[in-house]
Amino acid sequence: MNPQPLLELLEKHDQRHILAHYQSLKSAQRESFIRGLGPLGLASVLTLYRKFSRPESSIPHSSRIEPAFILPIPKTEEEVQRRKEAQELGESLIRGNEVAVLIVAGGQGTRLGFPGPKGIFPISPIKKKSLFQLFAESVRAICGRYRATLPLLIMTSEENHEETRAFFKSRDFFGLKGEFVHFFRQGMLPTLTPDGKLILKDAENLLAHPDGHGGSLKALYDSGLAGWLKTQGVSELFYCQVDNPLAKIADPAFIGVHRQENAEISTKVVRRRDPEEKVGIYGRVDGKPAIIEYSDFSPEDYRSLDEKGNLRYWAGNIAIHMISLSFVERMNREGFALPYHRALKEVEGLGAGGRSEKMTGLKFETFVFDAIPLAKKSICMEVPREEEFAPVKNQAGPDSPDTARQAMTNLFTRWLIGAGAKVFPGVQVEISPLFALDKNELKEKLGEKEVEVREDTYFG
Ligand code: UD1
Repeated sequence: MNPQPLLELLEKHDQRHILAHYQSLKSAQRESFIRGLGPLGLASVLTLYRKFSRPESSIPHSSRIEPAFILPIPKTEEEVQRRKEAQELGESLIRGNEVAVLIVAGGQGTRLGFPGPKGIFPISPIKKKSLFQLFAESVRAICGRYRATLPLLIMTSEENHEETRAFFKSRDFFGLKGEFVHFFRQGMLPTLTPDGKLILKDAENLLAHPDGHGGSLKALYDSGLAGWLKTQGVSELFYCQVDNPLAKIADPAFIGVHRQENAEISTKVVRRRDPEEKVGIYGRVDGKPAIIEYSDFSPEDYRSLDEKGNLRYWAGNIAIHMISLSFVERMNREGFALPYHRALKEVEGLGAGGRSEKMTGLKFETFVFDAIPLAKKSICMEVPREEEFAPVKNQAGPDSPDTARQAMTNLFTRWLIGAGAKVFPGVQVEISPLFALDKNELKEKLGEKEVEVREDTYFG
């Protein structure tokens, strides 16, 4: 590989410390160093640094932020009927093998204090199934119910790719056909110091970080997976994050609403728990639908109330989307245009003395939801939090494994009671996706049987 263009790029962007380091390497190390630089988005990051060299909000201050229209949870007869039609439409798309499931799982369980990919974290209340197992079993159950094939696509990062793949392989893909489970790596971008200098990770590598979950849409295309999906007849992607064990995988009603409305990207939201909950908000920016991170609001706006005393920006993003494959292709063909967000985070790299040390790093990332304003049409629907959102983010307190397990038990208890069972207070229950995917299926399964749940019970 000719090192010249990369060396010139470093020179042009004033990265003389890296050039000096390169000159100090032996020739075999130099080759390895240059090979490592190849796949990193070096040119784009160095250009980005010039563009965003000062901290600023990703949404210009002059922008007008407003609440957006959101499809309500059906209440009127007409709304219920329309949702039923959406459900049937979604089911027909699943039956026709038009839907694939995409889970973004590039992160590690660092905030959880868990060593390894977050998807491996044991989460279910009784069997302690991992997040990945729950998702894979849901996909298997849907394939069985609709006699369909749903490819499962898992986006990993450089750091957790091999471990994630090995985890699935050692568990025989949880009963899914291996050829329909795909792992693809997201891109990496070099990390900079706050004043725009590249950082060495070790003698032969620059420090780099995953390019954000927006990178899933690029990596899906670049890896050839988008093309493969097309040959399989897939037209819609169900997208979710690895951290939400309540995500209703490939929810037919959501798929149907997305198609009914001819949307290119759709979103599910829940009502914010309270004014302090830190979520993205589905709203409108300068008249266009968009998701705005809480950090892009002023604290007053984020907590502001409407004339009825409810939160004005109530629609919390739960990071569940339907994304049309044709939209992914178009975005990539026209030049991948998701904007970059910048963040300062603590990183570890080689310091001036050549020893590894903690320092502040500047990272650039893209967010998948920034595709919303780029779509010809985008819709958003409200769903009940207690049925669909219990993220696992922190070790303890809100959004932790304890709250997620409790939310699962609570949901399954409601299903059981709805099916006529008696559930004693304080017991933990777990219903495998392979036993029942929803309350109706559970009711059918239990039939006329008298069920009493007196102790912690697993239905599988
Ligand atoms: C995210 C959303 C927020 C939403 C909340 C709901 C962003 C910026 N914000 O916040 O609007 O309300 O979830 O739970 O996303 N990931 C990758 N690769 C990356 C970065 C992230 O795969 O490079 C995956 C992680 O594995 C994780 C998910 O994306 O599953 C969320 O990322 P995280 O940075 O934890 O977002 P939150 O701050 O939780």
